[in-house]
Amino acid sequence: MNRSFLALATLAILGAGSAAASAAEVIDVYKSPNCGCCGKWIDHMKNAGFEVRAHNVMDVPLARKALGMPERFGSCHTAKVGGYAVEGHVPAADVQRLLREKPKAVGIAVPSMPPGSPGMESAKPVPYNTLLVQAGGEATIFAKH
Ligand code: CU
Ligand code: CU
Repeated sequence: MNRSFLALATLAILGAGSAAASAAEVIDVYKSPNCGCCGKWIDHMKNAGFEVRAHNVMDVPLARKALGMPERFGSCHTAKVGGYAVEGHVPAADVQRLLREKPKAVGIAVPSMPPGSPGMESAKPVPYNTLLVQAGGEATIFAKH
């Protein structure tokens, strides 16, 4: 009894160790240097376990274009993770689901900056959608918030 418990505990520790070593997904975030809500979104992503590499750029639309995200879905910052573009104040859970399900797409976007989205905390939140964006520019609803 004791011995099998010990074996299980050892397995659990080993398992946790290897999971922790590979879990931190790196996300590159491109933002303007004086964007406050971008920093808050970065904190949201860090709290969810992402390893965030923040890049201050003068031309966020240019970075967005480079990632293949159409300008009309634009927000204040754009990001890249696991080969996908992530535009704006997307909830970390949506990014995790994107990486898990790996749909065929350019990425996901929360256009504009809806009050109540992560990093845009507000006393007056509004409903918003996370969009799944295709290379041709078509978008479908990925998640409703
Ligand atoms: Cu913002
Ligand atoms: Cu931002």
